[in-house]
Amino acid sequence: MQCGLSGCEFRRRRRGSQLLMAQCQHNLSWKLRRALACIRRNGCSRRQCAIICCLAVLLLIALLLYSRSLASTLHGHGQPVNTRPIIGILTQETIFEEWELHGSSYIAASYVKSIESAGARVIPIMINLPEEEYVKIFNSINGSGGWIDDGGIVDLRHSGYAKAAKIFYDLALKANDNGDYFPIWGTCLGFEELTYLTSGELLLTLTETEDVSLPLNFSQDALRSKLFRNIPKDLYDNLSKLPITSNFHSWSLSVENFTANEKLKEFYNVLSTNSDGTVEFISTFEAYDYPIYGVQWHPEKISFEWKIAPGISHTAEAVYAAFYMAEFFVNEARKSLHKFPDTTQENEALIYNYCPKYTGKIFDQMYFF
Ligand SMILES: *[C@@H]1O[C@H](CO)[C@@H](O)[C@H](O)[C@H]1NC(C)=O
Ligand SMILES: *[C@@H]1O[C@H](CO)[C@@H](O)[C@H](O)[C@H]1NC(C)=O
Ligand SMILES: *[C@@H]1O[C@H](CO)[C@@H](O)[C@H](O)[C@H]1NC(C)=O
Ligand SMILES: *[C@@H]1O[C@H](CO)[C@@H](O)[C@H](O)[C@H]1NC(C)=O
Repeated sequence: MQCGLSGCEFRRRRRGSQLLMAQCQHNLSWKLRRALACIRRNGCSRRQCAIICCLAVLLLIALLLYSRSLASTLHGHGQPVNTRPIIGILTQETIFEEWELHGSSYIAASYVKSIESAGARVIPIMINLPEEEYVKIFNSINGSGGWIDDGGIVDLRHSGYAKAAKIFYDLALKANDNGDYFPIWGTCLGFEELTYLTSGELLLTLTETEDVSLPLNFSQDALRSKLFRNIPKDLYDNLSKLPITSNFHSWSLSVENFTANEKLKEFYNVLSTNSDGTVEFISTFEAYDYPIYGVQWHPEKISFEWKIAPGISHTAEAVYAAFYMAEFFVNEARKSLHKFPDTTQENEALIYNYCPKYTGKIFDQMYFF
């Protein structure tokens, strides 16, 4: 998520979120409500936020489309493959006045480019639609998709983004339970939101992780995980040694809190951790039983955001690693055999209907809606 609010706004929302958290804890019951959404989160820059801390949250609901003609291609172990995947990216409320001039919600173009670079198309998922609309979108694409939430939101419970994220998360769990493959990806705030959706609690803690590049401290399970089991050895070595993951978050899920939470522990396999020198936190995880992935860091910034920042490496190693992540997720989306009812509806939904605007600050280019 992108953070960057004024201090007082931040504090206010933060209080709200704590309230919410208490409520959630009170009435959650794991099996039935793990997906309960109260997402709230506030999170952003704690420190008077003069600057932007960007936690980009991505919850990706990738909507995959399936083109019957191409889908007949068989790959691998006889699994049909959707070679025309479409991934839905959740839009996000604009948080700065100068952005509000352009629209009430946005998607940082880097998320879109990242998906496109790996061979998929994107549709924006608008916020503040009635719940029936989301259900319709989900059903009409019948299945797969990822959703990406990108930054900026502060209130994870009341924001349109938060509500849409919860709806898609719940629908994705159900779809996957029924054998309908529907991958979800969360980046930064999206990662944090996944922890909230899964646990029903706000378990984050403040860390010194704004604008820093870090190597990944892979867990022992990493090389057996879905996400990393096919990673080239060179890339694994480089990711574990070189500071090439982009961290822009002030909140993190500590290993301590993760380990103490049964719901999270049962649901997610920790693939990497990092430390700010004091707090060890989870930087990458995947769900054991669902195609749900979360990274606290920002693969999409590496190739597509160019503000001068120590937190964004543009080395060949960083670019390669970032592409690996995008490619992995798009490949997940290819396993989803869903489609829009017709080409007209598909074309109308695509992000190609919108022009990104060069804003050149936190993000180089942004789509506004
Ligand atoms: C989704 O697609 C599958 C396979 O084509 C089909 O069996 C299922 O009924 C569809 N679901 C919806 C909600 O359209
Ligand atoms: C654990 O989560 C609580 C909120 O439930 C938070 O106040 C605390 O700082 C977290 N502790 C660590 C070590 O992450
Ligand atoms: C990497 O993770 C392990 C296991 O959590 C921990 O013991 C170790 O201190 C970490 N190393 C670094 C450099 O953070
Ligand atoms: C990664 O590191 C290896 C050395 O371990 C190096 O030879 C290789 O070129 C690097 N790969 C990339 C893609 O940067």
